[in-house]
Amino acid sequence: MAFSRAEAFAPATVANLGVGFDIMGLALQGMGDRAIVEFRGAPEIVFSDIRGDGGKLPRDPALNIAAVSARALLEHVGESRGLTIQLFKGLPLSSGLGSSAASAVVSVVALNKLLGEPFTRRQLLPFCLEGEALVSGYHADNVAPCLLGGIILVAGTTVEAIQPLPIPDEFHLALLTPDVPVPTDSARKILPRHVTLQTMIHQTGAVAKLVDALHRRDLAALGAAMESDRVVEPARACLMPMHKEARAAARQAGAAAVFIGGAGPTLCAICDSAQVAEATARAMQAVYQAANISGISQATCVDQCGAVVLKAD
Ligand code: HSE
Repeated sequence: MAFSRAEAFAPATVANLGVGFDIMGLALQGMGDRAIVEFRGAPEIVFSDIRGDGGKLPRDPALNIAAVSARALLEHVGESRGLTIQLFKGLPLSSGLGSSAASAVVSVVALNKLLGEPFTRRQLLPFCLEGEALVSGYHADNVAPCLLGGIILVAGTTVEAIQPLPIPDEFHLALLTPDVPVPTDSARKILPRHVTLQTMIHQTGAVAKLVDALHRRDLAALGAAMESDRVVEPARACLMPMHKEARAAARQAGAAAVFIGGAGPTLCAICDSAQVAEATARAMQAVYQAANISGISQATCVDQCGAVVLKAD
């Protein structure tokens, strides 16, 4: 069945999980983006409304992730009609919470509904990546969990590369997003171009330990693996003020590990209960308050649904 108007929601995500640079991510309960998509007679894609971005997102459809992703899907199915998109950004930009992936996913999932759902969520990955690549390059560590929910290994950019991983029962998260924008391209440019063989062996071992810990549902081993990155987080720490202090406060509050969410600046702590996650979120917030840096803290869990269609008529 085809529709003329569809509304979708796409959740926040955090990528990397410490050592899984560009190959792992998870979806978060709570925050996300919403979009309403309608067909229009003319072939262009236009935005009738974009809210929640402080006027920062491009309105030009050639430069906007939501429009570029939707255009990729329209072209793939040979649809000549254009779209009117209303985009409601619930996610802060350049925050490490997968804002660009959510923009891509929310428009594509709504459009897929308009088209009568010819594609599964997994099959929508390539269209979403077209948009995500505009700001972040071709990697699916935010897009895949945003589409599917859960904790995802995505060792590649094809549908076949998506591998959901087990979610330990007591897996809670505390997040702190300081008001310090860290554009993804700056956070990628700062990374080393080469690593030694010794470092490569260490990183490979750490990723293997992380996956093994998830399968054994061992939060302590998971935390140790997440925090053992020797390449990406050490290079990016300078972009994130109070990173060390916030990690120390989170550990003091009982968190098993703290990693930088995606390209940052969100810090993400792994906790073994909702109470510890609440206490950890408060402890990290206090560190930033003391440094006169505003920020948003929250305790949450892994979202297991991914993007959803809210309404279609
Ligand atoms: N894996 C990406 C990075 C996520 O850390 O740069 C942000 O797009």
